[in-house]
Amino acid sequence: MPKTRRELLQVAAVGAGSLIANDALAAPLTNNQSISKIAFGACAKQDKDQPIWDAIAATNPDLFLFIGDNIYADTRDPQVMRDKYAMLAAKPQFQRFRAKVPFLTIWDDHDYGEDDAGQEYPMKDESRKQFCDFWGVAENSPRRTRADGIYTAQIFGPSGQKVQIILPDLRFNRTPIRKMDLGGKDYRTWAAELNSAGKAVPGPYDRNPDDAATMLGETQWTWLEYQLSQPADVRILASSLQVVADFAGWEGWINYANDHQRLIEAIRRKRANGLFCISGDTHYGEISRLNVNVPYPLWDFTSSGITEVWPVTPPNSRRIGEVYRERNFGLIEINWQNHSIEVKICGEDGSIKLRQTMSISSLRQARF
Ligand SMILES: [Fe+2]
Repeated sequence: MPKTRRELLQVAAVGAGSLIANDALAAPLTNNQSISKIAFGACAKQDKDQPIWDAIAATNPDLFLFIGDNIYADTRDPQVMRDKYAMLAAKPQFQRFRAKVPFLTIWDDHDYGEDDAGQEYPMKDESRKQFCDFWGVAENSPRRTRADGIYTAQIFGPSGQKVQIILPDLRFNRTPIRKMDLGGKDYRTWAAELNSAGKAVPGPYDRNPDDAATMLGETQWTWLEYQLSQPADVRILASSLQVVADFAGWEGWINYANDHQRLIEAIRRKRANGLFCISGDTHYGEISRLNVNVPYPLWDFTSSGITEVWPVTPPNSRRIGEVYRERNFGLIEINWQNHSIEVKICGEDGSIKLRQTMSISSLRQARF
């Protein structure tokens, strides 16, 4: 197996197999390993420099959650997708980080295959194979073969310190998103006209109240509800799309009214205490919290992106504090001694831009 960086680059350039040699990957975590520091991030364009990996590495996380748009494949050509994974694999900072820290990954639209894509994307089986090969998903994992996607969950740590990480697949099975009536115009033209008239420009999408509209599909829902019934002290719902933000113009759980409500009801019904959400996709960092009609406050910590930024911030009435618009990553630190969790959004140099502390006991519904 190749060992030097030069040899690794050659493997990446060939674009074959898993692209990064197995002996250059950090060993996966074992299930009884206690974890307290988890970094996360999203939205990494493979043709841009990604110096942020060194800042993430400097925090010494136990685990990294790469939660979507991990490359921008944006293709229906398997070779183009393969080449783009190879570009990520060839990045020295990324290689160093992967050699040091184990990953758990899920896709969003761009690494699934196309911008804002769902179940209709025609290359999803090939994309699944490339995703699983690149990220080292076990050959016998159901993520490779089950009918409705790559969702997964794992629990780490001993009794009293169990951390459950749930990664739903919001793409493979997603029914069409509801679009706003743009009067037959394409979005750019429509937005430009609103803009020049001095009006606010919403995104092109709308909330869909139809019960049949779903991102997860029924089989994945059964799985998710089962996961929420498993014993754990802390649960991280690692969602590629924002869960709590309430603006439906761009993609988020809020677009799928039934999924959004069903998630909250499932947390309540399964008494799934200790849960908070992390999310990516937006190209900015922010913290959101839902306080009403929930079993306990539902937090959502959004970090995006590793390379991508966006100058315009949509409204979000659930936002707590400021938006961070530069490149960023997320950091979750669980203090098992004083039963608290701190989540930070950190800039490209590792400095803290947003932060929030929660007691684990605040993520618990009262018993009646
Ligand atoms: Fe996305």
